[in-house]
Amino acid sequence: MRALVVYFSKTGNTKKIAQAIHETIEGEKQLVDLSEQNSPSIENLDVIFLGSPVWFMKLQKTCKKFLEDLPNGLEATIAVFTTHGVPIPEHYEGAFKQARKICKKKNLKLFNQLFTCQGKHEMIPELAKIFPDRVEAAKTSDTHPDDEDLENARIFAIKVIKSIS
Ligand SMILES: Cc1cc2nc3c(=O)[nH]c(=O)nc-3n(C[C@H](O)[C@H](O)[C@H](O)COP(=O)(O)O)c2cc1C
Repeated sequence: MRALVVYFSKTGNTKKIAQAIHETIEGEKQLVDLSEQNSPSIENLDVIFLGSPVWFMKLQKTCKKFLEDLPNGLEATIAVFTTHGVPIPEHYEGAFKQARKICKKKNLKLFNQLFTCQGKHEMIPELAKIFPDRVEAAKTSDTHPDDEDLENARIFAIKVIKSIS
């Protein structure tokens, strides 16, 4: 198994999930923070786990660019995971739709299940200006990702790996 776990994480939530996934993988593996290294080697990989925080209901832009820059028809399976602050599908599903659309266009093998969990939302005052009625829901992100989220991420990683081995 040759795996790359690549992520962007402004406030550390997506990084925690990326680390849990990375720890679960047995074999050759690399953990790369896209804010430090924006074009890691993607040669001879079986799987790429891509982790993004949801920003403005979409993939964070560095993560979107990473996906868009992958070569068309790449052999490796792509497994996308996100963290989001607002536990209402309208606030995070757009990121998955975007990932699906990019992978389809580029003929990339996207693992058909995507993983997401809440991550402490650090922009609640900004959210309150646009969606004041969703502030209470967003505050439930304060304790995430928690142990259960990390365990679910490990289960997700195992499923992805089983699907390709
Ligand atoms: C600029 C910005 C935009 C955000 N937009 C959304 C959003 O549209 N929907 C949502 O559920 N959470 C949103 N959030 C919350 C983050 O997705 C969430 O807190 C995530 O866990 C942050 O991950 P990180 O710690 O890895 O950066 C936003 C956060 C920031 C900083």
